[in-house]
Amino acid sequence: MTKVSPSILSADFARLGADCKEVLDVGADMIHFDVMDGHFVDNLSFGLPVLEGLRKALPDAYFDVHLMITNPLTYVKDFVDAGANCITFHIEARDNTRATIAAIRACGCGAGLAINPNTPVETVFPYLDKLSLVLVMGVTPGHGGQPFQTSALDKLRALRAECQRRDLHPMLSVDGGVKADTTGPQCVEAGANVLVAGSAVFCAEDKAAAVQAFQAL
Ligand code: DX5
Ligand code: ZN
Repeated sequence: MTKVSPSILSADFARLGADCKEVLDVGADMIHFDVMDGHFVDNLSFGLPVLEGLRKALPDAYFDVHLMITNPLTYVKDFVDAGANCITFHIEARDNTRATIAAIRACGCGAGLAINPNTPVETVFPYLDKLSLVLVMGVTPGHGGQPFQTSALDKLRALRAECQRRDLHPMLSVDGGVKADTTGPQCVEAGANVLVAGSAVFCAEDKAAAVQAFQAL
C-alpha cells in the first residue's frame, strides 16, 4: 500500500496538535515536518520546540522530518531528542553528506536524503545503501501549494531501477504538488511508495477521504 505523509505546512497552526491527531486517527502513516531556515530556502517555518510539543501530544506518531536548512549536521541530535523518527536533509546543503547520514544513524534514527528539481538523481546513488528514505522534490522547496514538476518522475524511475539492481529498499518519497487524482498516480507508477501531501490533505473538506485516496494508489 502507498503511504501518505501529510505535510503540516498546510495545517492550521492555531490547532496544530489537533490537526495532526485528526489525520493520524483517519489512518495517515506519518507526519511530514517541514523545517525551513530562511537561508537554504527563502522561507521560515518552525523548528525544535514545535516538534517537541507534538511528540509529547502524539507519543506514537512517526515524524518524518524534512530539514530545508543549510547546516543539518549541527541540528541532528536536537531533532532526534525532540522526537524525529526519520531525518531527511538536502544533498544541496552545505554539510558533509556522509558525515550527516552517519550522525543521524548513530542516534538510532532513519536517515533520508532529499534532492531538488535541478539536482541530478545520480548524486544520491553513492549514499543509497545507508538511507532509510530518498525524497524527490516535485517543487523547488520553500512553499506549499506549488505545481508539480514532472522531472521528478524520471528521477523516481531511475531510483527504483538502481534500488532494484542493488537490492536496496529505502522508502522512495516525493514531496510537492502531489495530488491523489493527478500527479499521485504518476508518482506511484514511477516508483514512489510514500507520498508527501500538504494542501491535498490539510485543505481537504474530508481529510479521511483524502488520506484514503492516496493510500489506494
Ligand atoms: C515544500 C515542502 C512540502 C510542501 C508540500 O517546500 O517541503 O512538504 O509543504 O505541500 P503541497 O503538497 O501543498 O505541495
Ligand atoms: Zn517537505
